[in-house]
Amino acid sequence: MRRFAYCKVVLATSLVWVMLDMFILLYFSECNKCDDKKERGLPGRDDALSRPRDGPGEGGKPVVIPKENQEKMKEMFKINQFNLMASEMIALNRSLPDVRLEGCKNKLYPDNLPRTSVVIVFHNEAWSTLLRTVHSVIDRSPHTLLEEIVLVDDASERDFLKRPLEQYVRRLEVPVRVVRMEQRSGLIRARLKGASLSTGQVITFLDAHCECTTGWLEPLLARIKQDKTVVCPIIDVISDDTFEYMAGSDMTYGGFNWKLNFRWYPVPQREMDRRKGDRTLPVRTPTMAGGLFSIDRDYFQEIGTYDAGMDIWGGENLEISFRIWQCGGTLEIVTCSHVGHVFRKATPYTFPGGTGQIINKNNRRLAEVWMDEFKNFFYIISPGVTKVDYGDITSRSALRQKLQCKPFSWYLENVYPDSQIPRHYYSLGEIRNVETNQCLDNMARKENEKVGIFNCHGMGGNQVFSYTANKEIRTDDLCLDVSKLNGPVMMLKCHHLKGNQLWEYDPVWVILQKLTLIHVNSNQCLDKASEEDSQVPSVRDCSHTRSQQWLLRNVTLPEVF
Ligand SMILES: *[C@@H]1O[C@H](CO)[C@@H](O)[C@H](O)[C@H]1NC(C)=O
Ligand SMILES: *[C@@H]1O[C@H](CO)[C@@H](O)[C@H](O)[C@H]1NC(C)=O
Repeated sequence: MRRFAYCKVVLATSLVWVMLDMFILLYFSECNKCDDKKERGLPGRDDALSRPRDGPGEGGKPVVIPKENQEKMKEMFKINQFNLMASEMIALNRSLPDVRLEGCKNKLYPDNLPRTSVVIVFHNEAWSTLLRTVHSVIDRSPHTLLEEIVLVDDASERDFLKRPLEQYVRRLEVPVRVVRMEQRSGLIRARLKGASLSTGQVITFLDAHCECTTGWLEPLLARIKQDKTVVCPIIDVISDDTFEYMAGSDMTYGGFNWKLNFRWYPVPQREMDRRKGDRTLPVRTPTMAGGLFSIDRDYFQEIGTYDAGMDIWGGENLEISFRIWQCGGTLEIVTCSHVGHVFRKATPYTFPGGTGQIINKNNRRLAEVWMDEFKNFFYIISPGVTKVDYGDITSRSALRQKLQCKPFSWYLENVYPDSQIPRHYYSLGEIRNVETNQCLDNMARKENEKVGIFNCHGMGGNQVFSYTANKEIRTDDLCLDVSKLNGPVMMLKCHHLKGNQLWEYDPVWVILQKLTLIHVNSNQCLDKASEEDSQVPSVRDCSHTRSQQWLLRNVTLPEVF
C-alpha cells in the first residue's frame, strides 16, 4: 500500500519534471530567436492560462528551478531583478490561498459601493508579471465594481509591450486601456496621467507586479464611502526568487525613519485598543508604502493629487501620507484586503542623474513643505542632502495654506506618537564625553550591535543622537539599551516601554552628580571607552569622575539653506 503511494508520488513528480523540461525547452527555442535579451519575457502563448491546476506556482506555492537551469535562471534574473524564469512558468491566472483573517471571510458590504478604475504604471515590465496583475484584478473583482483598467506605459523599450499588449488586452472581459507616455516621466507623472484619463469614482493604484486575492476590492471601496478616507490593502509578499505567495501581517503599519525612508513598524497597543482588539477593523496608519492604494477621485483632486515637482519616484508616498493626515483626511490599512507584491532587492531601472539625487530632491520638497522644524532630523542625519536643489515649492506651500493643514507637531502628537522623530526632546546633536572629548557614534552599525565612540567630527550623520522627553537616547529608530551590569551598550529598536532604554540626564552642573547619563535599571553610569575596546563606551558604577560626564547639545545647521 505504502509502496504504491510512493510510486505514485515518484511518477507524478517525474511527470511534472518532464512537463517542466518541455516547457523550458519551448521557452528557450523561442528565445533563441531573440537577438536582444530585453525581448525575453515574451507575450504569453495561449496556454499560459490553461496550465494544470497543480501546475507551477498554483496555490501560491514556490517554484523551484531545476539545477541544470540555474545558470540560465541567473541570467534571466537580471532583466527584471526577479526570477523571470519562475514567473514565466506560472499561469497568468494562477490560484492563490485565501489568506484573510477568518472574521473577514463572511463580512457583508453594501451593494451601492462606488466603482473603481485601476491604474497601473509600468516600465519595461515582464509580460508574465504585468498580465498576471491584470488577470488577478479581473478574476477577483466583482465586475460591477470595476470601471476599467488603465495601463500607463512609461516609455518602455520592449516590443512585446507595444502592439502585442494592446491586442491581448482587447479580448479581456473588462475594458483595459493602454496609455503611453511620450517620454520617460517617472511613476508620479505617469500616475497623474493615468488618473486624469480614468473615469471611475474611485482610483485604485497598483504596481505592475501584483496579484490581488479573493475579496480584495470590496472592503477597500466600503471604506472609501467614508469621507476623506484613503485606504491601502495589506501588502503580501511575492518572493522575487520563487514567486511564493506569503501573507503580510496585519500587525505592522507604515512609518518612517529620520532619513525619511518608509519602514514597517509594529502596530502600537493604542491602535489595538481603539479597535477593541478586532483585527478585522481597518488600522489607522501614519504612512503608506505607496504602491497600492484607493482614493476617491474628487478627494484626490481636492487634496492636490501628487507633488508634480517631484521626479520619477521616492518620497511621494510620505508626501501624500503627511498631506492626507495634516489636511483633515484619514489613511488606513484595510486588513481584510490582501494584495501581493513582488518585492525586489534592487531596482532594474536607471534614471538620469542617479536614483540617489532624485530621492534626495523629493525628500527635501517633502521636508520643506510639510515637516516644519522637524525637518532638522532629516537634515542632520543626512548632511549632504542640504546641497541638493529642490526647485520651487511655492505652489505646494500655497496648497498647505489653502487647505489649512495642521502643523507637523500635531501629526506627531495625534497620528504618530510612537514616531521615530520625537515630538519633544532635550537635545538633537552630538553627545560628547567631558574627559576624552570623544563623541558617541553609531558607526553606521545596525540593529543589535554595540554603539561606538569616536573623535567628534561635528558633521552630524552617524554622531547624531537625540535625548528625548521620554528619556531615551536615540539615533534614528535605534535606542541605547543595556541589559546587564557592566554590559555592552547596544543599539536596539526603540520600544517606548522605558525598561532597559531609560536614561536619566541632569544638565545642570551644580553638584558632583551632574552631567551623568544614568542607566536607570542598572543604576550605572555611561562611561568613556572600555579598556577592552577603545571604540565602544561602557557602563560602570557611578563614580562622579569626568569620564562619566557628557555634554548634550543641539547642533546648529549650516546656513546654506
Ligand atoms: C485559468 O484559465 C483556464 C482557461 O480559462 C482555466 O481552465 C483554469 O481553470 C483557470 N485557472 C484558475 C486557477 O482559475
Ligand atoms: C534643543 O532644541 C529643542 C527643540 O527646539 C529644545 O526644546 C531644547 O530645549 C533644546 N535643547 C538645548 C540643550 O538647547
